Amino acid sequence: MSNKELAGKIRELAKEKNAIILAHNYQVPEVQDIADLTGDSLALSIQASETEADIIIFCGVRFMAETAAIVCPDKKVILPVKNAGCGMADMLNASELKAEKAKYPGIPVVTYVNSTAEVKAESDICCTSANAVQVVKSLKATEVLMTPDKNLAMWAQRHTDKKIHYWSGYCPIHNELTIDQIKKAKAAHPEALLMAHPECVPEVLDMADAVRSTSGMLIFAAESKAKEFIVATEVGLLHQLKKQNPAKQFYAASSEMICKDMKKTGLKELLRALQTEGPVIILPEPIRLRALKAVERMMAVPRD
Ligand code: 13P
Ligand code: SF4
Repeated sequence: MSNKELAGKIRELAKEKNAIILAHNYQVPEVQDIADLTGDSLALSIQASETEADIIIFCGVRFMAETAAIVCPDKKVILPVKNAGCGMADMLNASELKAEKAKYPGIPVVTYVNSTAEVKAESDICCTSANAVQVVKSLKATEVLMTPDKNLAMWAQRHTDKKIHYWSGYCPIHNELTIDQIKKAKAAHPEALLMAHPECVPEVLDMADAVRSTSGMLIFAAESKAKEFIVATEVGLLHQLKKQNPAKQFYAASSEMICKDMKKTGLKELLRALQTEGPVIILPEPIRLRALKAVERMMAVPRD
């Protein structure tokens, strides 16, 4: 079946089944193009919580679909490829977090949404790359424990007087980007502004003109007077950047920044998910309820 035929069948079935297709900004172009909504982790969690659809097909990785299942217990949340995971989320489990918390009694735990539902359930509040600083600032405590991303924690530390303790996880894709690669990209494109994701190491963030979530980069690029941008995040975002800004130029900071898990979902997998209505994300209710508290606290933090 051609991509056009697959796309036609997907749209037809989605309508018939009252399903909404959400796609993260790192998904392959054809999946982004067929989705009802594309966005970053925060935007997609909000969309999931507000949708009136009966089925949510989440084109992304497991932690994102789990977040949708946490906020939408009455909906069928489907992750088209069961083993689409996240290297960072795998770096911390609930028992490790319990042991870490014991070292910091009384200190609130701020957990990046790039984590399992079990880890969220052990946390006081969640955050995303779009709101980490606001979430930390919203807490009364003067010390916090941030998990699982050390780079996001170090970034937030620069914007608050609170003492941030952190777990030393990282994104295997963003953490690999070096200042030498940035220097090379800047030498090749001297007029370009550098946009970087807060999962990059601090030395890379020091060189950036803007540190943003993936959707934050889309806003920055659209609003900026600049015509060229170096993009220090997963290469999937380039599709949306180019589509929304046809008169501007975007260059990947490194063509090696590919999250294999984000590329596991294609149109065939999406169609199969709609046809079979699976694989469904099912969370144990006690875990879901505790994780929900952490996600709801995050959603209640005012956005800038
Ligand atoms: P965003 O929430 O900024 O889209 O980031 C998600 C992610 O997985 C980054 O690696
Ligand atoms: Fe996880 Fe990194 Fe992939 Fe984002 S890019 S989903 S943090 S492994």
